[in-house]
Amino acid sequence: MLHTRIAQVMCKRPSGAQYTEHLQFIRDNQNSYNFDTISSSYDCDMKAISYEEYGPPLKVLSFEEKPKPSIGDDELLIAVEAASVNPADWHVVRGDPFIARLAFGLRAPKKKIPGADIAGVVEETGANVTDYKKGDAIYGDVFDSGLGAFAHYVSTTEKHVQPKPANLSFIEAAAVPLAATTALQGLRDHGEIKPDDTVLIIGASGGVGTFAVQLAKEFGAEVTGVCSTQNLELVTSLGADHAIDYTQENFTDHTDRYDLVFHLGGIHTLADYRKVLKPKGRLVLAGGESKGHIIGPVGRIIKAAFLSPFVSQKLTSFTAKHKNKDLAYLTELIEAGKLKPIVSKTYALQDTPEAIAAVEEGHIVGKVAIAIS
Ligand SMILES: NC(=O)c1ccc[n+]([C@@H]2O[C@H](COP(=O)([O-])OP(=O)(O)OC[C@H]3O[C@@H](n4cnc5c(N)ncnc54)[C@H](OP(=O)(O)O)[C@@H]3O)[C@@H](O)[C@H]2O)c1
Repeated sequence: MLHTRIAQVMCKRPSGAQYTEHLQFIRDNQNSYNFDTISSSYDCDMKAISYEEYGPPLKVLSFEEKPKPSIGDDELLIAVEAASVNPADWHVVRGDPFIARLAFGLRAPKKKIPGADIAGVVEETGANVTDYKKGDAIYGDVFDSGLGAFAHYVSTTEKHVQPKPANLSFIEAAAVPLAATTALQGLRDHGEIKPDDTVLIIGASGGVGTFAVQLAKEFGAEVTGVCSTQNLELVTSLGADHAIDYTQENFTDHTDRYDLVFHLGGIHTLADYRKVLKPKGRLVLAGGESKGHIIGPVGRIIKAAFLSPFVSQKLTSFTAKHKNKDLAYLTELIEAGKLKPIVSKTYALQDTPEAIAAVEEGHIVGKVAIAIS
């Protein structure tokens, strides 16, 4: 006679995520035991990188067990396979510049799990979700749907994700959304890039810059990238017609004048940019760090906004916004082999604080990714 018993066993993935296995034990006449796994569910807590107070990433971030997010009718639960790090992550973790705390929480961070870029698999869908089903591979940017990328699971809406490009791994896909969208919106929407424009990209070897070089070439521009010595070859291999080594020469000493300057790295004055712009040229400030911790680069941005109406050049800044139609366009370019992410290093989820600290140094080549599953 056979005796059966069902048992639940808590297990751990190598990455640390817990899950429940439902086992059926069968004992036969000879008293020998066999068991089968009848199902497993990841319905318990998850591991995530979280913080309770602003500060240096290596000090305030910890690898902890957190409740798995619940979803509303319009949301998807995503099992995150990979994430990537952006400079925005260290700004969010440090609450720096201080002015950013107006959005992220004045005294302490409102959202406890940072991270914007994700690639993963749909685990569960809310009642009103129509475009995705369990098992679909997706990628996207959860920055303005509550952050939370550095975790085994995240919830977001259909508006924040797209099907993952078929020719990219999860790691590569996670490197795309925020950086490539910034490059696209900076060049196309704010820089009004046109074929045959001469374009100077300052910070051409970083997360946004490596996409910007490829996109500017795709728009038919003549591209000059500014980067350090070791990245000259990368920048030209991505299609730049010329590369300037900022450790050896200052682009402001050149006599070349540009239709469009896209600023992503280094600290320069508005006068420096204006000097290298043609009389009707356009300056787009996407970022670039600053020495101040109160308003950060916002000072330079405000100056540009005040000055722009009084000069022939257009001086502008912007904050990239996730738009699914932009991510769909980027997917098309990626699948057509016209755009590729550069991932220079991948960290495990528990090492995310080190990854964010490395990005904060400001000399990352392409993107840094986080392997989560
Ligand atoms: N406005 C927005 O919505 C938005 C969105 C995304 C990012 N951002 C901002 O845009 C900037 C770039 O982002 P990212 O993700 O590309 O950052 P990143 O990956 O850290 O890249 C920064 C790049 O700047 C270069 N750099 C450093 N010092 C430089 C200098 N003196 N001259 C020229 N280049 C220099 C570095 O190149 P080397 O290694 O060769 O030094 C590095 O490749 C950041 O300030 C970020 O906060 C803004």
